[in-house]
Amino acid sequence: MSEWWRQAVVYQVYVRSFADSDGDGVGDLPGITSRLPYLRDLGVDAVWITPFYRSPQHDHGYDVADYVDVDPLFGTLADADALVARAHELGLRVIVDLVPNHTSSDHAWFRAALAAEPGSPERARYLFRTGRGADASEPPNNWRSVFGGPAWTRVGDTDQWYLHLFDSTQPDLDWRNPEVPAMFADVLRFWLDREVDGFRVDVAHGLLKEEDLRDQTGQEVSSDTFDVGGLAEDAPMWDQPEVHDVYRQWHAILAEYDGDRMAVAEAWTRTVESNAAYVRPDELHQAFNFDWVMAPWSATAYADVIERTLPALAAVGGTPTWVLSNHDVQRHATRYGGGAVGRARARAATLLSLTLPGSAYLYQGEELGLEDVDVTPEHRQDPSWFRTGEPGRDGCRVPIPWAGDRAPYGFGPGAAQPWIPQPEGWAALSVEAQQSDDGSTLAFYRRALALRREWLGGAGDEVSVSVHDDVLTVRRGDVTLAVNCGSVAAALPAGEPLLATGPADGGLPPDTAIWVRTG
Ligand code: GLC
Repeated sequence: MSEWWRQAVVYQVYVRSFADSDGDGVGDLPGITSRLPYLRDLGVDAVWITPFYRSPQHDHGYDVADYVDVDPLFGTLADADALVARAHELGLRVIVDLVPNHTSSDHAWFRAALAAEPGSPERARYLFRTGRGADASEPPNNWRSVFGGPAWTRVGDTDQWYLHLFDSTQPDLDWRNPEVPAMFADVLRFWLDREVDGFRVDVAHGLLKEEDLRDQTGQEVSSDTFDVGGLAEDAPMWDQPEVHDVYRQWHAILAEYDGDRMAVAEAWTRTVESNAAYVRPDELHQAFNFDWVMAPWSATAYADVIERTLPALAAVGGTPTWVLSNHDVQRHATRYGGGAVGRARARAATLLSLTLPGSAYLYQGEELGLEDVDVTPEHRQDPSWFRTGEPGRDGCRVPIPWAGDRAPYGFGPGAAQPWIPQPEGWAALSVEAQQSDDGSTLAFYRRALALRREWLGGAGDEVSVSVHDDVLTVRRGDVTLAVNCGSVAAALPAGEPLLATGPADGGLPPDTAIWVRTG
């Protein structure tokens, strides 16, 4: 069980918003490369980079027009190679994003499909169907786009429609057509040959749909945070049994390469068991644990997720992942109430995540204690905003502050605001400001990651979990974590204090967690 990813801390870089080398206000690959030493010093093991392939950027790279080239906005293939080489020099692994459920409508395949006749081989790579109603003016079924509105767009005034579970510029591929898996096998090999260590698989639960594309019955579940379907009771478009054949094929491809290459699934499924199915021994290696993202700030809620997750994964020989933030959901400091309380809880929940067996995924800027920004309507860019008028996901995607006292806070050269404007008042949150402050969130993350390596690196997977009066206690190896999710101070756990997320002299205040050494 020595594969590196089993207990890796992985740092998610949202390319557009991490570091801008050329001053166009959008982050890029050379920007990331220049900041890799920062990630090494932070103490992470790997970096996951969101899509940087050729794309018209309607969904900020999750609409890929060419899977084997870099978008000029982000650099060149040579820049990608340089990034991977530099990361490896620094001892960091690189996970790239793979978007197999849909292409961009600018992809050569989709252009060819539109130019070809209904029923042609070109159209058969996607899901074109005849509309309903006498004049075919109704969509072929009742499915809704994850971004709002119908999941179908009509081709001109013909009777043909195409399926898009996301934006209309993201047509879904037909994974029952053998040309599609063949193309993606080549894409995997292209990046594996360029020495990437793994893939994050976008919408991994969506590739196959029930073959007859029947209507969905019942209502979509609504949740407070962004989710990519899969949670509804009847979901003919998600989590179909045949999708696992794809991952068996990919497992075999990854296994042809040395160095423990891996893949992590973004799979929104109804149960921990159906999620664990994606990491059976001959499938993918990890799946994001979205129950952890969805859990409220509550000792019993956390305990419940831990106690459901661990056995489900153990049953398939899988390794859990712990995720609190990413580019699709509100930052956890904001979800937990925002302000000083939200930030304190966020640190505490992070320490809890870092205690648990398995791997932890961090999202850029959480180590700075960033909260979501209230992006004004004229600056919103999320496709779901354009489709529904709901604020969407821009608030967690604002470029991060590196230095200085005004925008762009060292994000890039020049004085212009980046692609989503940064707020005033971020000077104190910049990397530069926090790195010399022992009490900063950044200093806390660095210490926590170093101590995790030291004390939990060889601690094994056994944990004991208990809840008393809103205090969750987790014992693993020689370390005990206690986190106080209640409203009154609690007793400190016995043992030598290793790290606390806030002042904890003589007692454990609300919204605070501590690691003590008990062994
Ligand atoms: C995934 C991505 C999200 C994207 C969607 C469509 O959920 O994380 O950002 O919009 O897939 O590709």
